Amino acid sequence: MTMPPDAPSSPHPSPPPPLIVLRRVHKQFDNGLQALSDVSLAVEPDEFVALLGPSGCGKSTVLRLAAGLEAASSGEVQAPALLPERASETAFVFQEPTLMPWASAFDNVWLPLRLQGLSRAQAAASVRKVLASVGLAEFEAAYPAALSGGMKMRASIARALVTRPRVLLMDEPFAALDDITRQKLNTDLLQWWHGRAMAALFVTHSVTEAVFLSQRVLVMAARPGRVVAEVLVKQPYPRSAEFRDSSAFVEACRAVAAALVDAHAAQPATAATAGHAGHAAHGPPQSAAQCPPAAGRR
Ligand SMILES: Nc1ncnc2c1ncn2[C@@H]1O[C@H](COP(=O)(O)OP(=O)(O)OP(=O)(O)O)[C@@H](O)[C@H]1O
Ligand SMILES: [Mg+2]
Repeated sequence: MTMPPDAPSSPHPSPPPPLIVLRRVHKQFDNGLQALSDVSLAVEPDEFVALLGPSGCGKSTVLRLAAGLEAASSGEVQAPALLPERASETAFVFQEPTLMPWASAFDNVWLPLRLQGLSRAQAAASVRKVLASVGLAEFEAAYPAALSGGMKMRASIARALVTRPRVLLMDEPFAALDDITRQKLNTDLLQWWHGRAMAALFVTHSVTEAVFLSQRVLVMAARPGRVVAEVLVKQPYPRSAEFRDSSAFVEACRAVAAALVDAHAAQPATAATAGHAGHAAHGPPQSAAQCPPAAGRR
């Protein structure tokens, strides 16, 4: 392809901007509760970031801000969900599968495409493809009552993936599942995510799940909710189940667990703890604060 004469070709094209940016975000609910204080984070287009922290520290609130379901009290939030013309780029997977009980697996997965105006026939190929990718090809006619917990969650994820989202927000999606099913879904989730150039922000209470899935684990403390540590997980993708047996995995889990202990111990005061000496945990990430304002993206 030839470049137009006036287009400068750069040997180092700048990387695409993050898809999700929270910059110095505060969130106070109407009842006066200060849920988030000075939260800054960014998620790149092909990044998998986990959010971990004590109950009530504001993890779901962060997801809801990124999904445009809540507004920040102050600070800046940038995400496709906040732009009407790009709202469909975001998919949200809740802790409960939230399937329509009166509709088949096919019809549940068709729903978001139906809302975009696609008929059953127009959507059929996409729905069947995504159902097959989550291992539910044989179950398209089954109603939720006839699916196991893990199968319901697969259907819920299929419904999220069918629109080919660029942002995948997941709020403890596997919390209700047994360990083996959860590990299998973790492996499968990475396969679905990998190569799709999706920004994934994944909330969990599980240290091992956070480390297995993500490139970065952000640890939050409560009252008010704030990010107090960041642990990098440098293992490249694809990651197989063997990663769980590696020393790199154990090390990263130790670092996250130590940061989590600090987060639980953190007093509801001004100074946040900044990770454990000797571990790979760092203080609150600076990346979002350092991000240039994404001009023209709002
Ligand atoms: N709509 C609301 N009105 C008032 N307070 C709220 C509202 N939503 C959340 N909160 C409060 O904000 C704080 C953060 O809530 P959030 O649901 O984000 O926590 P969380 O980290 O997701 O917790 P968990 O791990 O238990 O799911 C909590 O103290 C919660 O009570
Ligand atoms: Mg929550």
